[in-house]
Amino acid sequence: MSTSNFPVKNWFLVIAMKRVMAIHTRILITCILMMIGLVVVPKVQNLFTSEETDVMDFGAKGDGITDDSLAVNKAWSRACGSTAGRLKFGPGNFVVGPITFSGPCKAKTVVVNVIGDVTAFAKKNWHNNTDTWMKFQNIDNLVITGSGHFKGQGATGWWDSCKQALGFHACNGLQLLGVTSIDSPRNHISVNACDGTVISNINIIAPKDSPNTDGIDISATNGLQLNGGNIGTGDDCVAINGESFNINITNLNCGPGHGISVGSLGRNGARDVVGYITVDGCTFTDTQNGVRIKTVPGGSGSASNITFSNITMRNVENPIILTQFYCPHQNPKKCKDILPVVKINGVWFNDIHGTSSKQNAINIACSANSGSCKGITLQNINIQASNSSVSVGSTCQNANPLVIPPVSPSVVCTPPSLIEMALDYNYDEKSQDGIAIA
Ligand SMILES: *[C@@H]1O[C@H](CO)[C@@H](O)[C@H](O)[C@H]1NC(C)=O
Ligand SMILES: *[C@@H]1O[C@H](CO)[C@@H](O)[C@H](O)[C@H]1NC(C)=O
Ligand SMILES: *[C@@H]1O[C@H](CO)[C@@H](O)[C@H](O)[C@H]1NC(C)=O
Ligand SMILES: *[C@@H]1O[C@H](CO)[C@@H](O)[C@H](O)[C@H]1NC(C)=O
Ligand SMILES: *[C@@H]1O[C@H](CO)[C@@H](O)[C@H](O)[C@H]1NC(C)=O
Repeated sequence: MSTSNFPVKNWFLVIAMKRVMAIHTRILITCILMMIGLVVVPKVQNLFTSEETDVMDFGAKGDGITDDSLAVNKAWSRACGSTAGRLKFGPGNFVVGPITFSGPCKAKTVVVNVIGDVTAFAKKNWHNNTDTWMKFQNIDNLVITGSGHFKGQGATGWWDSCKQALGFHACNGLQLLGVTSIDSPRNHISVNACDGTVISNINIIAPKDSPNTDGIDISATNGLQLNGGNIGTGDDCVAINGESFNINITNLNCGPGHGISVGSLGRNGARDVVGYITVDGCTFTDTQNGVRIKTVPGGSGSASNITFSNITMRNVENPIILTQFYCPHQNPKKCKDILPVVKINGVWFNDIHGTSSKQNAINIACSANSGSCKGITLQNINIQASNSSVSVGSTCQNANPLVIPPVSPSVVCTPPSLIEMALDYNYDEKSQDGIAIA
């Protein structure tokens, strides 16, 4: 702060004179550049190859009403084709319909900076049978960042014609940094075949009763770190599906939602293999499930080397579930113990504490087929009832877990049967009217 006006005024004079000179110089340089441009580079776009491509420069309005899809498409073509590889959604609200961002791009790293909001069409304006709202494919080292929100408009119908709001396919080295997804029409984010993905400080928001609004679905991906953030939604916070390996989830808050799930694996007789999965330092609040592994009878493959550690449960209906009897779209009573089985081998539940809102705090349901469930360890577990005047218990069948005290509620398991079960498979995949248990 200056006490006298004089030197300040002087400064202004100097700066003003410099400005005038600078402007003259700039005009001159611009004229020269334009002349060169007219002769050598007729395309004006080539003049800003090192900059961010702003969707507004391509005619996007960002007024929350106009369909900006075409402008965004054009902007993407330029960003993907430029050495800078940077696309920007500036301040505003950009309405876009189903759109595909395809690579490969010219730049080694492609950054999409979302400052304003990006909003989907309302359900009535959506073309039927479009599976993804915003699909990103074949783009290596794609980074999506910015404080803006992806608004899927799910609340206009929670539709079935869409599978996911943000779909990533074959984007190795993907990074989602501080991304926010609100009210996806169905699943929020799908990561498929994107090795070496990093997702940090994710923010996913949808109502507890919104149907099938999984937070993050991971499949066919080797190497994924999901660090920090909040997922509150109507279905699984995170689901880890077939052919996924080296998946680490840390410091995530889940709730409401259906918890963090490995599977379902082996759906419709599929062969699914997953392994090397850790879920560490996560908190579940008012969720239907906490940590879960679920496989469907009649599928094959395996789930191995999975660790759930340092987990806090707050008023969770089913804090710990491991089941080989998961039959979606079917009356659970009809879910039979048939061959083949997705084998489970090497699961650690360590340092899990908190409260359960229902009675069965630990539920382990393995197939009676020998060798179906091996190497399950429970260590340092303390789950109390949310309602202090009741107590919680556990169920365990056909497993022989290693229980390292203290483990409360106590777990006593019926030993695995050595009898191979006969094939008795009456799964009707067309039946959608059964009870979906998650
Ligand atoms: C989608 O299908 C529904 C019912 O079949 C129809 O009423 C609606 O007009 C269709 N929407 C579009 C955008 O085609
Ligand atoms: C997952 O965690 C393990 C153990 O801390 C570490 O060795 C591995 O590199 C991590 N993998 C990823 C993809 O972050
Ligand atoms: C357990 O997780 C919490 C976050 O929920 C973290 O703050 C704490 O450091 C973790 N403790 C250990 C021993 O890893
Ligand atoms: C799980 O992975 C750890 C670390 O790589 C390894 O030491 C252990 O043998 C594996 N266990 C199983 C059952 O594969
Ligand atoms: C807690 O459990 C007791 C005994 O079952 C029951 O009477 C009471 O209503 C429960 N309290 C709540 C808040 O659910």
